[in-house]
Amino acid sequence: GAPVEVNIRKAEPGQLVRVKWRGKPVWVVRRTPDMLEELGDIEDKLRDPNSQEPQQPPYAANQYRSIKEEFFVAVGICTHLGCSPSYLASGMGEHVEGVESGFFCPCHGSKFDVAGRVFQGVPAPLNLVVPPHYFIDDNTILVG
Ligand code: FES
Repeated sequence: GAPVEVNIRKAEPGQLVRVKWRGKPVWVVRRTPDMLEELGDIEDKLRDPNSQEPQQPPYAANQYRSIKEEFFVAVGICTHLGCSPSYLASGMGEHVEGVESGFFCPCHGSKFDVAGRVFQGVPAPLNLVVPPHYFIDDNTILVG
């Protein structure tokens, strides 16, 4: 599959931009400062907070799981059985106490923070996959 360019210039803070890459949904989330702050507080609720599990690019092995803190890039497929999780820019607290933003998989209730890190006690075994990507310039990400 060919690499896919994502223009992020018009992405609003908190917005999720969807593209397709190799037939898969890929998300780019422009995270707000509040979202980023939340990621520092919840390690003890996560299964693999530092992305030590395999199959992740090296730039995903940090708290933000991203090259630039503001932009989170992920394959939008649940690591349990492949459903598409819902993005909750706010309102995640209904599913995880004390957390405002993240992803919720309606199929069997898996929960991920807004860096795609899986919470403990859910069926999904792994963090959401970060695809290979890089910044061509400040406004453009190349996925693939
Ligand atoms: Fe997402 Fe099962 S496919 S929780």
